[in-house]
Amino acid sequence: MKRAYNFSPGPAMLPGPVIERLREEVGDWHGSGMAAMEMGHRSEEFTSIAEKAEADLRDLLSIPDSYKVLFMQGGATAQFAAVPMNLCTPDDTADYLVTGYWSRMAVKEGARFCRANTVLDTADNGDTSIPGADRWRLSEQAAFFHYVDNETIGGVRLPTLPVTEAPLVVDMSSSILSEPIDVEDYGVIYAGAQKNIGPAGLTIVIVSDELLDRKGNDKKGAIPSVLDYRRMADAGSMLNTPPTFSWYAAGLVFEWLKAQGGVEKMAARNRAKADRLYRAIDDSDFYANPVATKYRSVMNIPFMLADENLDALFLEQAAERGLTSLKGHRTVGGMRASIYNAMPDEGVDALVEFMGEFERANG
Ligand SMILES: Cc1ncc(COP(=O)(O)O)c(C=O)c1O
Repeated sequence: MKRAYNFSPGPAMLPGPVIERLREEVGDWHGSGMAAMEMGHRSEEFTSIAEKAEADLRDLLSIPDSYKVLFMQGGATAQFAAVPMNLCTPDDTADYLVTGYWSRMAVKEGARFCRANTVLDTADNGDTSIPGADRWRLSEQAAFFHYVDNETIGGVRLPTLPVTEAPLVVDMSSSILSEPIDVEDYGVIYAGAQKNIGPAGLTIVIVSDELLDRKGNDKKGAIPSVLDYRRMADAGSMLNTPPTFSWYAAGLVFEWLKAQGGVEKMAARNRAKADRLYRAIDDSDFYANPVATKYRSVMNIPFMLADENLDALFLEQAAERGLTSLKGHRTVGGMRASIYNAMPDEGVDALVEFMGEFERANG
């Protein structure tokens, strides 16, 4: 089977062994005569798949019993609304740290459901660094503090936890499972699956029991059942038909991660991959990354060519070598290499080698 080194930001590359498992099991899951995606979601077989996936995820992230794990739909975008709906009334204030494209989307959506206070917006510096907390305008009694720990488009990450009294709500769509975290630091963690978890269609929400019964907009009957954390938790995420294929495939990724030695091992590998790519960029006058070193993402690495007229040729020649989906987001331009857990070391090596050759031929 020919597999590209796919640098897509999401939906993104899955681990090769997971693709193999999917191929093996697609017609007949464990002798059941059915594919996982053909099973009723309340069947004994699918229940075992669903429960194992949750148990493995809990294990990987050491999720305490005092947190619920929800398998939801609607992507991270639905959570931009679900978070304020569940956690505050329209009259409550919530703090938002805005460090790039996705946190900007989150605060815009949040403002439809609560008083959304932007504590800082890094647009002033082109989203290339995150000024310290002494510059943040925190509100007095925020219902929660929302941020995106890794901005997928700008390739910017917040290296430390925000300091605030309010419960932390974090969009970890492009960083979850890439490094160990302490779940108890957070009130809510959410992530769309399609980057570091599995296929699109599934959204993981990890929510502290303490926040489950915040009434939020439900007081006005305004919260849809499928976005209601308490209702979803009570129904084991099966208030309605869940995204069964994505749930099953995510479970295979969790098994693969455990076989790799868990998130600590992945973190070391991810750091090494990112260092190699940043070194290649920084050692050259031909490539550049605009983000201040301290805030550089380990998962998504944008880089510009000295002459943007060469962008198309770069992408064409990279694709010929099986290095795909390197085009940067339209708001940033240039290139972007997304190197989640599933990107093997060899993929980054191949990219770095190609970048060197391309520079020699065109620099
Ligand atoms: C950090 C982050 N948040 C939110 C989103 C939006 O996610 P979704 O398409 O799952 O709604 C993305 C998508 O790329 C993202 O990277």
